[in-house]
Amino acid sequence: MGQLDGRIACVTGGTRGIGRATAEAFLREGAKVVVTGRSSEKGQRALDEIDAGDNVHFISGDVKRREDCEALIQGTVDKYGRIDILFANAGGVNNSSFAPVAEMSDEGMEDTLTWNFWHTFWTMRAALNHMIPQQHGRIIATSSVEGKVGKPGNSSYVVAKHAINGLVKAAAHEVGTLGITVNSVCPGLIETDIVKENGPDYAESMGMTYEELLDWFGKESAIQRINEVEDVAEVCVLLASDVAAGITGSLLSIDGGTSPY
Ligand SMILES: NC(=O)c1ccc[n+]([C@@H]2O[C@H](COP(=O)([O-])OP(=O)(O)OC[C@H]3O[C@@H](n4cnc5c(N)ncnc54)[C@H](OP(=O)(O)O)[C@@H]3O)[C@@H](O)[C@H]2O)c1
Repeated sequence: MGQLDGRIACVTGGTRGIGRATAEAFLREGAKVVVTGRSSEKGQRALDEIDAGDNVHFISGDVKRREDCEALIQGTVDKYGRIDILFANAGGVNNSSFAPVAEMSDEGMEDTLTWNFWHTFWTMRAALNHMIPQQHGRIIATSSVEGKVGKPGNSSYVVAKHAINGLVKAAAHEVGTLGITVNSVCPGLIETDIVKENGPDYAESMGMTYEELLDWFGKESAIQRINEVEDVAEVCVLLASDVAAGITGSLLSIDGGTSPY
């Protein structure tokens, strides 16, 4: 018996990285999973590699658009009949948004907030409107260690991930008696594709090389190394499962002890 037998999940940004690993972990535990992303090509590749037949389905959409966010939730319900688990995971920060506050553009701040915070709000609101009537649901949002601590040169991301944590806490208190939990996961650095792509510019904005950046994130943790996507995926399985009914409004650090709380 899997921990998520019969459950229906939607994972935004589920074709690569943390989302993909979590989608696969949900599938292994018996859930049916919708994975989303902008690229249909990456979506098809993910479906081929996951190879889980009709238990996994891809829906394309850009989470920076409200209509797309709402369509991902509705598409999950249309495909599998309900939604039990939302993993609002897509997000990040573009190179153009790496700047100290004194030099940050409105556009840079807005883009990161839309990608991370507004996407989480739009998908969470749509999912809650299905979960509240069915009196069951599990919502997990991907925040970051930077949703708990500051980092120079990355203000838009720090703001957006803190905002996600605030939304999680607020929503948890609204639906806590309805069988619905709302939590975030706060990973430290994980060397996924987006980190390989954007990491060198981020490192430069902080006056270091990419290798020094990876090393720095590892060294500031208690375990002296960075984590892997599977470390996040397994925590998401726990949060999505029935045994986690008493965990809500939590901001779970998966950063090897980096964050002070
Ligand atoms: N990696 C880290 O070090 C780290 C640490 C803490 C938190 N996080 C957070 O973890 C989450 C996942 O990051 P990751 O490192 O796993 O990234 P990743 O490996 O680059 O994967 C990103 C996934 O999201 C999709 N995606 C990206 N932008 C999208 C958009 N605008 N609309 C819809 N889908 C989109 C991508 O597919 P398409 O490209 O086809 O859209 C892909 O499936 C993010 O919220 C990130 O901020 C990451």
